[in-house]
Amino acid sequence: MPIKYHQKSREFHLYNNQISYIIKILRNDQLGQLFFGQRVPDRANHDYLVENTYRPVTLYVDDNNYSFSLGNLKQEYPTYGTTDYRIPAFEVKQPNGSTITNFKYVSHKIFPGKPQLDNLPATYTEDDSEATTLEILLHDSLINVDLVLRYTIFNNYNAIARSVKFINHSENSYQLTTAMSLNLDLPDDNYDWLQFSGAWGRERQLKAAHLRPGIQAVDSTRGASSHMENPFIILKRPHTDDFQGEAYGFSLIYSGNFLAQAEVDPYKVTRVQIGINPFHFSWKLNPQQSFQTPEAVMVYTHNGLNDLSQNFHRLYQQRLVRGYWRDRQRPILINNWEATYFDFTEEKLLALAKTAKNLGIELFVLDDGWFGKRTTETAGLGDWWVNRDRLPDGISGLSAKIHDLGMMFGLWFEPEMTNKDSDFYRQHPDYIIETPKRHASQGRKQYVLDFSRPEVVDYVYQLMAKVLREGKVDYVKWDMNRNITECFSTAYPADQQGEIFHRYILGVYHLYDRLIHEFPKILFESCASGGGRFDAGMLYYAPQAWTSDDSDAIERLKIQTGTSYCYPISSMGAHVSVSPNEQLQRQTPLKTRADVAYFGAFGYELDLNTLSPEELAQVKRQIVFMKEHRQLFQFGTFYRLKTPFESNIVAWLVVSPDKKHAIMGYFKILNDVNAEYRLQRIPGLDPLAEYHVKEEAGNIIGSFSGSELAKIGLVTTDASAGENKETTDFYSKLFTFDAQ
Ligand code: DGJ
Repeated sequence: MPIKYHQKSREFHLYNNQISYIIKILRNDQLGQLFFGQRVPDRANHDYLVENTYRPVTLYVDDNNYSFSLGNLKQEYPTYGTTDYRIPAFEVKQPNGSTITNFKYVSHKIFPGKPQLDNLPATYTEDDSEATTLEILLHDSLINVDLVLRYTIFNNYNAIARSVKFINHSENSYQLTTAMSLNLDLPDDNYDWLQFSGAWGRERQLKAAHLRPGIQAVDSTRGASSHMENPFIILKRPHTDDFQGEAYGFSLIYSGNFLAQAEVDPYKVTRVQIGINPFHFSWKLNPQQSFQTPEAVMVYTHNGLNDLSQNFHRLYQQRLVRGYWRDRQRPILINNWEATYFDFTEEKLLALAKTAKNLGIELFVLDDGWFGKRTTETAGLGDWWVNRDRLPDGISGLSAKIHDLGMMFGLWFEPEMTNKDSDFYRQHPDYIIETPKRHASQGRKQYVLDFSRPEVVDYVYQLMAKVLREGKVDYVKWDMNRNITECFSTAYPADQQGEIFHRYILGVYHLYDRLIHEFPKILFESCASGGGRFDAGMLYYAPQAWTSDDSDAIERLKIQTGTSYCYPISSMGAHVSVSPNEQLQRQTPLKTRADVAYFGAFGYELDLNTLSPEELAQVKRQIVFMKEHRQLFQFGTFYRLKTPFESNIVAWLVVSPDKKHAIMGYFKILNDVNAEYRLQRIPGLDPLAEYHVKEEAGNIIGSFSGSELAKIGLVTTDASAGENKETTDFYSKLFTFDAQ
C-alpha cells in the first residue's frame, strides 16, 4: 500500500514512485505536516522534522515548558488561536460566539481506491488499484464535531487529492465561516508565486512575483471562478522553468467563489491554502448534518513546469473528465455566433451548414438567438422554446436537416439566466437572485436565477430536457454571461444567507448531472462570456470550455498558453475566426489562425460563405490536416517550448504517447529583420529514434535523432532580410516529426 502508518512515531507516509507526503500526529493529538516533495525512502520516524525551538514573544500550549507552540509548527489543517496566529484553514463559530476549537486525532482508515464526493465534482478512479485513500478522523469533544481529512494519492500522477468533511454530532447548530479544502505549510519561502489573471477577452495571463512576508492571494467574489482570477496557483523555485526545477501546483475543483493564498510567516514558513472564499460564506451546520468541502489537487514536480502541467493534464483528462466524450476526439465544429450574431434565418444557417459540410466540418452549432423573443440580447432568456418566425420547423426540424447533411447538431443555452423581458420572468419574477427592497442590478440586461432553490433548477431542467429530447441535440454550449451581485435568496433564513453562493453552484452542478444522466452522449461545452468559468469543477461535467471570446490568434497565444498550465489541450475550445478580428481588428493570416486553433477543441466561427475560393480550399486542407492529427493535438503530451509571456516567439509541442510523432507550432508575433540564429530544442522524443522533420506544407527539413533534437535542437532561423520575404508579422509554421 502506498500509504504507511508508523504506529510508534504516529506518522503517515503517502508515496508513489515520484512523490512523498508525510503527516505526523503531534503530541497534543493535532496534526503536523512534515514533508511534501520528491519521493524519499520510507522511515519509521521523522521526529527530527518537528522543530519547535524557543522563540521570544510566543505562547506555548504546555504549562511547564517552552517546547510546544502551534504557532511555530507546520500543520495539516490549522485552527486560529490556541497559539497559532496565522490564517486558519477553518473556523467554527459556536453558540457562545467562540471560534476556539481543538480537533484531536481519533482514528484513521487506509483503503484502496477513492470514494466520490457527494454532489461535488472530483477526480475518480476506475479501478481501486489506481490510488489509495487515507481518511483521518479528528474530534472536538467540547462541541462534539468530527473533522474528516481525506487524502488520495494516485499511482500514476504526481498528485494528491484532498478534501475535508465536518460532521456535527451535537444538539447545537454551528456556523462554519471558513472551510478551506487544502492547507499546506511548506518549510521555507524561496518561491515565486504564479497566478493566472485577466479580464474578459484576456483570461489567464501568467503573472509571477517572488513570495514576500505576509499574505498574498487571488480570489473570486462573483459567484463564478471568473475571468479575473483562476482557482489555480503555482509555487516554484526562482530558477525553475518549463524544463527543470521544483514546483507545486494547487488546483481547486470548484466553479464558485474561491480563495487561493499563501502566508509567509516570520520564520519563513509558507502556508498555502485553497478553497471556498470565506468572504460572504458561512454554512449553518445543524445537528447531525455534515459539510463537505470541494476537492483540491496538489501536484509536485522537480522536473519543471511542463511536467507539472502534464500531470494535471493527464489526471484531469483521464480521471476528472467523464463519460462518452472523455477519450474521444472532439468534432470539428462551425459556430454561427461570429458568423451571424443575432441576425439569422433558417436559410442562412443551412447555407452555412452546407458549406461547412462540404469543407469536412462535423458539427453545426446554433448559438444564441433561437428561442423566445431573443432577437437582441435584451430579451428572451429563460424562454427555452423555439422562435418559429426564425425556425419554422422548430429545433427538431433544423436538427433533422443538419443530420440529413451528415453533421451533428449543437445548441446554445444560458440556463442560469433570465431577461425581465421574457415569459419566464413574467411568470416567475420571484426566481431571480435579488435582495428584498434593494435595487437588482442588471448585466447584459439579464438577471441570475436563484439556483440555490431546487424548484428553480428543476423548472429549468424540464424546459431544457424537452428541447433536447425533441430536438435530437448532440452538443450543448452552456453559456453564463453575468456574475452575481446583491446575493440573497428569499428561500433561506437570515442565518443561511452565507450559504447562497455555494448552494448556487451546487444547483448548477445538479442541473448538469441531471442532463448528463438523461443525455449521456451529448458533448457539453461550458462557457461564461468566453472563459469566465474555465475551471476544474466545470471539466467534470463539460469536457471542454470556450476558452475566451477573444478569438484573435495572437491574443490566443497568451490565453491558451496561460490556460495550459493547468488544463488539458482537449478542454480548450479554439476557433478560426474572421480577419480583421472581431474583437481587436487585427489582421492575421488564415494559416496562423488555424495553427493556433489546432491546439484545442478545433472549430470555425465565421461566415464561411464570404471566403474566397482560395481560402475555402485552404480551410478544406486545414480540416484534412486536423483530422489526420487530431488525436495527437488533443491527447498528446503538450509542452510549452517558448511562451508569449517571455518572448516574441512562441513554440508549442505535442508528442504522441509512443513518441513516434510530434508536431511543433512555431509562432512569431512581430516580424524581425536580420534576426539572430535560432535553434529550438525539442524535448520528449525517443532519443534513439530517427525522425523525419517536415514543414506542414510537405517540405522536408531533414532527418535527425531524438537525441540530437533534444540536445542540439532544430534550426529555426528565419532571417527575414533582403530577398527573404517569407516571414511577416503574426507568422506561423508547423513542423511535424515522424520516427522512421
Ligand atoms: C458569450 C459567449 O462567450 C459567446 O461565444 C456567445 O455564445 C455569446 N455569449 C452569445 O450571447
